Amino acid sequence: MTTPIEISFGETDIELLAGTTGKLAVVATEDGKLDVSARRVNKLTKGAVLRLLESETWEKLGTGEHITLNFPTNMAAEAVAIIKLDRRPKPETARKAGAELAKFKGDAPLLISLGSTTRGDELAFGLALKSYAFTDHKTDDETVNAPAKILVNYPDEAAAAYNDKAALAEGVFMTRDLVTEPSNVLTTTEFAARVEGLADLGLEIEILEEDTLEELGMAALLGVGMGSESPSKVAIMNWKGGGDEKPLALVGKGVVFDTGGISLKPAAGMEDMTMDMGGAGVVTGVMKALALRKAKANVVGLIGLVENMPDGRAQRPGDVVTSMKGDTIEVINTDAEGRLVLCDVLWYAQERFEPVGIVDLATLTGAIIIGLGHDNAGVFSNDDAFANSFLKAAAGEGEGAWRMPLGASYDKLLKSPVADMKNIGGRAAGSITAAQFLQRFIKDDVPWIHLDIAGVAQVTGDTDMAPKGATGWGVLALDRMIRDGYEAAEAE
Ligand code: BES
Ligand code: MN
Ligand code: ZN
Repeated sequence: MTTPIEISFGETDIELLAGTTGKLAVVATEDGKLDVSARRVNKLTKGAVLRLLESETWEKLGTGEHITLNFPTNMAAEAVAIIKLDRRPKPETARKAGAELAKFKGDAPLLISLGSTTRGDELAFGLALKSYAFTDHKTDDETVNAPAKILVNYPDEAAAAYNDKAALAEGVFMTRDLVTEPSNVLTTTEFAARVEGLADLGLEIEILEEDTLEELGMAALLGVGMGSESPSKVAIMNWKGGGDEKPLALVGKGVVFDTGGISLKPAAGMEDMTMDMGGAGVVTGVMKALALRKAKANVVGLIGLVENMPDGRAQRPGDVVTSMKGDTIEVINTDAEGRLVLCDVLWYAQERFEPVGIVDLATLTGAIIIGLGHDNAGVFSNDDAFANSFLKAAAGEGEGAWRMPLGASYDKLLKSPVADMKNIGGRAAGSITAAQFLQRFIKDDVPWIHLDIAGVAQVTGDTDMAPKGATGWGVLALDRMIRDGYEAAEAE
């Protein structure tokens, strides 16, 4: 388990600056104004900060970025960062400034003296999010990531504001850990065990085992797991923080490894399919964050946990399965398995919880990567207001999301000669036909959003808020959507 670095807040005290070991950071504004801390560093270093501010380097520096002075004269710190940041930065700018400090910090202790600069909580959040490192399987890595301390003129206020964000950081880290974990470790059983661990936070947890899934009629989901030694499961996480109203449902694809099944994938890059439980990972991370910050909302998370393997008992191309809804599906391609898992979990979620809305998340199609790359998830919805509320939340959190179309002409591509539908629509509009398939399992009056996160769940380069690898995309956006739309306003 990866825990976010510890960040605390204290009262501004410039007498601490000269003797601080490790790393130190102070701020100067865009137009070159130094606060007391930066002035003190300038004095100690005999004018180094002012020289920097008069340089072209400073002029070219972006807002929220910093310049490092290494082994400065008269100071115990091994490096001092001068951050370019205005006194009242926008929240997203403060968050970015914090994220920018993650590399500078490394594993060393870091003291950040912000003085009167506002949004210390956001800066802390950016630093925490970007300081992620998954080292569980590195035998030579025993480094403990030292804490950070932020000095401000408003420490109590900052600490209170950071509380909820620390909860969110833990949720994001849980998602990233799940996505990064290899599939021999994160089996369906291990995933379910980690979900059960969340009961300590006040979440109601239920794990449905294969016999129950069979009784419920989830043959589409079960068909996917038939070739695997790991038993298929559905895990339910219920957070009842609101009143008596029906919950919002979050549904996630949790394919712990996707070989493609009998429609086997090519070898090159197949190892990436350890992340095919990304949707379930986001649902789990959001539920953890909601519980940690004691959200005043009713939200239920449901994840379908299966492994897609080729085997003598695996399902074959051409097989026909009957979904829990009762509709029959011709499995043309066993590699289009995510939709087979989701269709049963989506149906079950509606039948049991009568949710006010459903958001599903899935690393569903390679086609969404062709369409949108790694910067935006595909957003499909039957409800404009619901979709817009998500798009607004995603934009506010800097998580890329782009609306995609649905329509009857796409749905037609799923016609099967032998069953009610087939599980693929062909090469054209592959992400849309996958979404159309899912929509067949959404009741008419239920607002629904499908998020295809195949391109954004894991990336090969750094993003603003994450080092390369698992991003945790969606945890922040969903949490914000819940805060803005489903939570009783906090009493002042
Ligand atoms: N898990 C994959 C989609 C995927 C691809 C996720 C790349 C992340 C990165 C999904 O189960 C899949 O195999 N989809 C097929 C569907 C096709 C057979 C219709 C695909 O996208 O090729
Ligand atoms: Mn597949
Ligand atoms: Zn898959």
